[in-house]
Formats: sequence, structure tokens, C-alpha cells
Amino acid sequence: MGLFGKKLKQEHKVMLQVERAQGKRLPEYHRATAECPQPERWSMYDSMTAEVEVLEFLRTLVTTIKPKLIVETGSFLGVSTLWMAEGLESNGLGKIVSCEYDPVVFAKAKEKIAASPLSSRIELRNESSLEMKIDGTIDLFFSDSDLPIRALEIKRFLPQISPYGMILIHDASSHLKVVREAAFELEQQGLLSCVFLSTPRGIVLAQKREGRK
Ligand SMILES: C[S@@+](CC[C@H](N)C(=O)[O-])C[C@H]1O[C@@H](n2cnc3c(N)ncnc32)[C@H](O)[C@@H]1O
Repeated sequence: MGLFGKKLKQEHKVMLQVERAQGKRLPEYHRATAECPQPERWSMYDSMTAEVEVLEFLRTLVTTIKPKLIVETGSFLGVSTLWMAEGLESNGLGKIVSCEYDPVVFAKAKEKIAASPLSSRIELRNESSLEMKIDGTIDLFFSDSDLPIRALEIKRFLPQISPYGMILIHDASSHLKVVREAAFELEQQGLLSCVFLSTPRGIVLAQKREGRK
């Protein structure tokens, strides 16, 4: 419960936990699944921010494929945004546009990014992924917003995503069924080719099928 007995939103609860944890690396909280039976081998800063190993993977993917434009949905406190921006900085090119719907979370993320030397690579927007407008071709799309809207946001941006680029869909574990099922469906509809990585919360690496050569 927050002030005046009001129930705190999950995002705001985790924001308070983040302040208390002071950047400590903790064992992953997610429960075991058939595809990832020992989640405690992974680590996390908090339960909203992607697993530390996934953050490392995101940065390495950015240095590997050298995207000019990254779009991220769901910034939370901007941690994954900053890890990807680190990759861009090391490439010496590219920018990331990240959207966060919640104004309180957005304000905190904005503060953090403004204080970072990577801020010139980042455009943070306080809007929904279902309304955000992006100019140009997206080389890397990281879907990490609200679980039930992932298929919608991917379909919305699909025409702008390069067939040579990558789509990453976080939270696709068999425990968080909704995103996993959405990814299977996008594959069955012939829109994406997917590889499911067996991490605690699950992450899908995908590519758009249309335009592949
Ligand atoms: C799992 S967290 C993102 C974690 C972040 N990508 C990281 O790894 O550091 C999901 C965030 O998406 C935000 N969100 C929910 N619906 C959204 C929407 N429609 N558009 C943009 N952000 C949204 C939530 O407020 C929350 O902060």
C-alpha cells in the first residue's frame, strides 16, 4: 500500500525497490520453467529491468549488427536503453528512440538519461507504443512494454522494420504465456521467423519474413 492506503502500481512498487537495492546485482526472481529450469543462474537489478545477461546480449547485438535506428517499447528506468546506447556509442553511429507510457516512470528515466554521457544517442518519449510515430527504417526493434499489446505493437511497426534487421521480443517464457503465444501466432501468420531463447523471462529473436532475400 502507498500513501493514503492506495494500492501502488507494480511499476511504481519496483521503482521503490530499485532505490533500496542501490544497483546491487540480485539472483533472478523468475520461477523455473521447462525451458529454463535454473533461473537462479541468471541475475537481475530488479524485476522490471531485463535480466543482466539479456542486457549484455542487447549491447553485444548492437555492436554486432550496427543498427542506425533502434526502437524500444517500454523504457521503464532506461536501463536497457542505456545498455543499447553503449553499443551505439562504441559503434560511433546510430540512435535509439524509446517510449514509456507511465508519466511518473518516464520522469525518473528522463532524469537518469539526462545525467548520462550517452544521452545524445537517446530520444525518450512519454507516449504509448500504440501511438508513437517513427520516421525512417527501423534496424532493431525491442518489444518490452505491456505484455498483452506486444503483437499489436509489432504489427504496427512491421512495415517500417528492415527485413535485414532484427526484432527482439522480451518476456516470452512459457510462464508469461501471452507473449510466447503472440510470437507463435505471428510466426503462424507468416509475418515473422522466430527463435526462442531459453532465458528466465524468455526472449525471442525474430526477423520479418516479407522482403527477405
Ligand atoms: C518490462 S518494463 C521495461 C523494462 C526496460 N525495457 C528494461 O529492460 O530496462 C515495461 C515498461 O513498459 C511500460 N509500458 C506499458 N505499456 C506501454 C505502452 N503501451 N507504451 C510504452 N510503454 C508502456 C511500463 O510502464 C513499464 O515501465
